[in-house]
Amino acid sequence: MTDKAKPLVTELGPGTHAICTCGQTTNAPFCDGSHSGTELRPEIVKVDTLPMNIAWCTCRLSGKVPNCDGSHRQLWDDPSKPARKPE
Ligand code: FES
Repeated sequence: MTDKAKPLVTELGPGTHAICTCGQTTNAPFCDGSHSGTELRPEIVKVDTLPMNIAWCTCRLSGKVPNCDGSHRQLWDDPSKPARKPE
């Protein structure tokens, strides 16, 4: 299970990738079909360049899902949220 208080950074190589947007996958950041039965669909990302590191949103607060936009930082200072600030 991923830490919901920080993004998941992975390296993607050239090709087409299905990125989870529902938060239910067991193979983050990739879609594993767990969105079935919901209205959500994976984000299809095409990478044409050399392998690159990408920060994927795991907190579901990003305004740019599936990419991280830093919104997870608001969880670090809100004691009502279960997420913890990374060590
Ligand atoms: S498993 Fe989350 S979008 Fe497919």
